Formats: sequence, structure tokens, C-alpha cells
Amino acid sequence: MSMERICVFVCGVLLLMSTASVGWEQKHDYKLALSTSLLFFEGQRSGKLPPNQRLTWRKDSALRDGQEGGVDLTGGYYDAGDNVKYSFPMAFTATMLAWSIIEFGDGMAMGNEWINAAEALRWNTDFLLKATAHLPNTVYAMVGNPNSDHICWERPEDMETPRPVYAVNTAHPGSEVAGEIAAALAAASIAFKTYDAAYSQRLLSKAKQAYYFANTYQGSYNDSIGYAVCPFYCDFSGYHDELAWGGAWLNKATNSKKYQNHVDTAIRKMKLMQEEGTNYIDTEFSWDNKHAGTYVLLSQIGQYEKEAQTFACAVLPESPTRTVKYTPARQTITCGNTQFPPWKLVEFAKNQADYILGTNPLGMSYMVGYGPKFPQHVHHRAASLPSVNAHPSFIACGDGFSYLNRPNPNMNELTGAIVGGPNSGTDNFADDRRQSAQTEPTTYVNAPFVGVFAYFVNHKK
Ligand SMILES: *[C@@H]1O[C@H](CO)[C@@H](O)[C@H](O)[C@H]1NC(C)=O
Repeated sequence: MSMERICVFVCGVLLLMSTASVGWEQKHDYKLALSTSLLFFEGQRSGKLPPNQRLTWRKDSALRDGQEGGVDLTGGYYDAGDNVKYSFPMAFTATMLAWSIIEFGDGMAMGNEWINAAEALRWNTDFLLKATAHLPNTVYAMVGNPNSDHICWERPEDMETPRPVYAVNTAHPGSEVAGEIAAALAAASIAFKTYDAAYSQRLLSKAKQAYYFANTYQGSYNDSIGYAVCPFYCDFSGYHDELAWGGAWLNKATNSKKYQNHVDTAIRKMKLMQEEGTNYIDTEFSWDNKHAGTYVLLSQIGQYEKEAQTFACAVLPESPTRTVKYTPARQTITCGNTQFPPWKLVEFAKNQADYILGTNPLGMSYMVGYGPKFPQHVHHRAASLPSVNAHPSFIACGDGFSYLNRPNPNMNELTGAIVGGPNSGTDNFADDRRQSAQTEPTTYVNAPFVGVFAYFVNHKK
């Protein structure tokens, strides 16, 4: 995971920690940034597309997903530039979209982006409901085979590679994937509460069931289906963070303390793992590591505030206890040893967001379709190949590689995609489709950005 990706999560989490209501000079059109960032999710859609699909160069795909396991697993999102569906990062994407709506939804009402954000979330949670339709015993964790997928450079609409399904169950558990799904469904139930009360209820009852499964049958999906999910979305940080995070979201969704014992137990185990050195320091908040997010979420109700602050001091650029590295043009903010004013967090988040929107030495916006200069060679199968509109006939697995390797810009604009960005150590960026670390977008990077942009829509000078 590149620094840029880390920043995105950090930005959102820092905004959540700050209760400052300050005005800021608007360097960018955050309303446009918000609406653009939401379009990206339509480019990642799998399954049957609705009539109001706005990225019209994408078409129906993977309509038989799940069939190899005798279940329906159509829909959901392709995670990044390939055509595989992974429930673990997909669920985290949903949790981040839901959190964005819950905290910063008031910045989305302008221009109806609230509805677009809610529908981006629903596309995800509809899939998560299918992935958990066979509880109490089974949760589906992945559709498609990354190895057979990656040997092709193919439009999802043309896919004919095997679409095996991988599940965790009571005998072969997966507490991280089930715990994250529980977090996602619980968070989404809050986001949908007034907009669609019946759906919200469905999400919440499924969240409870998923959490029960995750917590009762403890184990990592590394050990159950690691041959399939590793090394792509292997669980590195263990599953206690998902049990803490999922429990914290369920407490919030049920407006109770019913899950508090589970939360405290999981956090104790997280800390033990860190002391034993089998777990790393919290310098990022990501699809894998939810320590910081859990602490920040709990700090909102007065719990684990010290831990939340430790995270902020590990990431703020001039903090004496900083452990995160930044590219040179980003070193602008200070952090006190223990206390720092909340507006510093907002300023930090804004500088990072502005950097990604083009306030950087290259003047390059790292979000496709925003600003005068943005990446043209996004590492993405569907976007790089001609659309089915332009080229209706089939393009076979290996025949697409000429589109990966040629210097021409992508055939289709994957509007709203936030790419990996500059390489760490410098502010340079190679707009090269073959350098996936720099030019590949992911759903779980865009999702927290939705909240960051919405915040700045509502906080201007
Ligand atoms: C999962 O596998 C990775 C790679 O082998 C390893 O680093 C990690 O510790 C494992 N996680 C768990 C929870 O077992």
C-alpha cells in the first residue's frame, strides 16, 4: 500500500477526531471532487447494470457469479484494476462509505450527492447480503481466481475465466472477513435508517448474525482459504481488530453496550499481539488494519481516547513521535507531543486532500476527471480496453495485452478513480499503465475520500 493510500484513510480519520468548526480557504471545488469521486464506483460495478448507470461505457458482466458454488453472488464491486471480487476489502469499502455518509452526509445534500453515495453503498451491501445469505454456517469470501484472472487482460464483460467461489464456515472460519462484513452492515444500517428503514433493519439483523459467526468461530481466513486470498488480500493484522471494530459498530447501530465485552476483549488481544511483535504499529488505517479506526470511533463516546491520539501523533508530519514518511512537498504541519489543536488535524487533512487534487509540484490531480491534468493510463482492464459500445465483438483473454502495453491513453475515462499516486520518497509520478502501484485505483481508497470531500464542501471560508 502506497503512502498516498495511507494518507486517504488518515485524512478521514483525523477529520473525525477533530470537532473544530473552522473555515478554510477553498483551493478546490470540493463539490465537484465529491460528485466525481462517486462516479468511480459505477465503473467498478459487477453484475446487471441499472438503466441509470452513468458510466455508460461499462456493461453487464459476471452474470453467473456464484453458480460454481450453487449460489447467487452476482453484483458487488471489482476491487481495483482486475475482475475479481473479494468480500474482505469490499466490506471495508462499504464501512467507509457508510461512515462517510453518517459523519459528513450534510455536505452531500448539496447537489443530491447524498443519494449517489447511498446508492454506491447499496450496490455494495446488496452483495454483502448475498455473501451472508447462507449464515449461520457460511460466508462467501471471494469470487474468481486471481491467478487465472491476472493472466488475462480482459474486459469484465468478456470474462470467460473460471469464477470459483470461496467460502469460510464454522469448521474453516474467517473472523476478519465476517467481522468486517458485520461492521459494514451495521454501519450501513445507520446510514440507511431514515432513507430506507426496512432495508436498514435487514442490514442490522444480518450484521448481528455475521458478528455472531465471526466471534463464535474464531480464526483467520488465512488458514481456511489462504491458498486463494493470499497474497492478494491476506490478513496481516490478525482478526481481533475486525472483532473490535465490528462490535463497536454494532454498539453504535443498536445504541447499546451489548457488544462492549467483545470489543474490550478484542482490543486486549490486539494489544497483546502488538507487544509480542506479531502485529505492527498503527501508522495506517486500511482494509486490513482497523486499529486506528476502532479507537477513533470509540473515542467519540469517550473510550480509548489516548490510543486515538497516539495514532494522530504517529502520522502528523512534524510530530516528535511520527513514524509515517511523506514525499518532500507534504512536510508542512506540526504536532505537539501530546496535545495539538483540532484545527491542525483539519489543516493536515485538507493539505493531503488538496495534494491529491493537484496542489503538488507536478500540478497533477490524482483523481481521474478532476482538474486540467490527471492520469491517462490508469491500470484498469475495462478502462484501457475499448468499450463494448465501440467494439461489440469479443476480445479474448490474452488479446487485450496490446492495450495494457501500448503508450496511448486509456480508451475510456474511469471518472473519479483515485490512483496510487507518486512514488514514495519523491513527488514524481509515472503515468504508466504497467506501474500498478502508481496508476491503479481501488474502491477502498475512494470510499473514505467521499467523506473527506463532503466535509470540505461544508467547511469553507
Ligand atoms: C496471514 O498470512 C500472512 C502471510 O503469510 C502472515 O504474514 C500473517 O501473519 C497471517 N495472518 C494471520 C492472522 O495468521
